[in-house]
Amino acid sequence: MIPEEADIELLNKEHKRELFSCGVDALDIYLKQYARQNLKKHIAGTFVHALPDGTILGYYSLSAFAIDLHKAPAALLKGFPDYESVPATLLGRLAVDKQFKGKGVGGALLVDALSRSFSASKVVGSMAVVVDAKDEQAVAFYSHYGFSTFLGDESRLYLSMKQIEALVCAID
Ligand SMILES: CC(C)(COP(=O)(O)OP(=O)(O)OC[C@H]1O[C@@H](n2cnc3c(N)ncnc32)[C@H](O)[C@@H]1OP(=O)(O)O)[C@@H](O)C(=O)NCCC(=O)NCCS
Repeated sequence: MIPEEADIELLNKEHKRELFSCGVDALDIYLKQYARQNLKKHIAGTFVHALPDGTILGYYSLSAFAIDLHKAPAALLKGFPDYESVPATLLGRLAVDKQFKGKGVGGALLVDALSRSFSASKVVGSMAVVVDAKDEQAVAFYSHYGFSTFLGDESRLYLSMKQIEALVCAID
């Protein structure tokens, strides 16, 4: 179970980034060295699931993204105007600390990321959330939540904003 006192919030300097360890070096290094800088530079927003003492259970990051029209899944293109690219949201990273895996933290972070992306899409258009899964386990995790792979690229997956809307409305 996720500790009751944990909350999902924007990364700030009180969070104990240096202690975070998910087992994937690149994801640990990103949180420790780049997440705050990228937040300040408006490159990516990072949200952490954290305890009141600053311990980070997991995190995700979001950025604006454009899917090349020629690579976009047909399901997104129904009725789409003749633009060069499809507006989307990139879930660039999502990771859970080793100590907290298998307790629902990854799922809670993903649902929060989707819900936040859906809210943002009402202000800045976005037709899907896109993820780049780093291995087969990650592909399986996202597939579990209904993500589909892009044709010809098994590591890139998407969930349309229509699907996300249905998911978010079902939860509310
Ligand atoms: C993948 C990861 C985020 C999952 O986090 P977690 O906190 O252990 O997952 P949860 O406990 O929240 O699981 C939520 C649901 O996803 C399922 N799930 C978790 N990992 C899964 C996997 N690899 N494949 C398929 N389903 C998976 C769980 O069974 C659970 O299903 P349920 O709600 O129907 O019971 C975590 O293992 C991790 O940080 N891995 C290393 C980094 C990584 O691979 N990130 C992915 C992006 S590149």
